[in-house]
Amino acid sequence: MKKVFLSFFLLGLALTMQAQDISLLPPEKTGGKPFFETVNARQSERAFIKRDMPLQTLSNLLWVANGFNRSDKRTAPTGSNKQEMELYVMCDTGIYYYDAKQNVLNFIAQGDFRIALGQPHISNEAAVNIIMVADTDKASVESARISSGYISQNIYLFAASEGLGTVARGSFRAELSKAIQLKNNQTIILVQPVGYLK
Ligand SMILES: Cc1cc2nc3c(=O)[nH]c(=O)nc-3n(C[C@H](O)[C@H](O)[C@H](O)COP(=O)(O)O)c2cc1C
Repeated sequence: MKKVFLSFFLLGLALTMQAQDISLLPPEKTGGKPFFETVNARQSERAFIKRDMPLQTLSNLLWVANGFNRSDKRTAPTGSNKQEMELYVMCDTGIYYYDAKQNVLNFIAQGDFRIALGQPHISNEAAVNIIMVADTDKASVESARISSGYISQNIYLFAASEGLGTVARGSFRAELSKAIQLKNNQTIILVQPVGYLK
């Protein structure tokens, strides 16, 4: 699949225009709120306004969530380093797979699948939804649930540090698995929208 370089585009515009792979930017590994202020600001938010997320912010978010911070290990731990969790990114125009090693979003499907999230008490206007998927060939669903908790907290702390909103979502509709074209060995564990606050 052809890869596009979109450094100068805002993500929303880019995803609207390009049903193709997207090269992410190198993550910025400095900045943000001080640690204790970040922890103090961590909370769930469910009301978002529609606003595109810059590609740099998305690149930082995905790296914090579950990127590689050493040659073969990640920002979130897993039992025996099995690395069974994969992230997908859903926005209003489509779904992408986060290839953390290559720092690329691989295009999966075009369309607005956010209806599959259910739960009308949560706004669907978050810029992105991170879908945490377990590879059950690598680890049990029970282990994957624990691993997802670490990724989820990384996302919570990133959002708190950046003044963004997020909420862990353990409940979603079965159609979501179809939308992201899951294989038999894959199971969705958690979904986490990240967006701009009302
Ligand atoms: C595993 C897990 C699943 C959750 N699922 C949902 C959900 O489906 N819908 C929702 O509105 N909140 C969900 N939440 C958010 C919790 O309701 C929230 O964390 C809790 O009320 C405490 O609020 P706080 O995060 O602001 O401290 C979930 C949280 C966790 C940890």
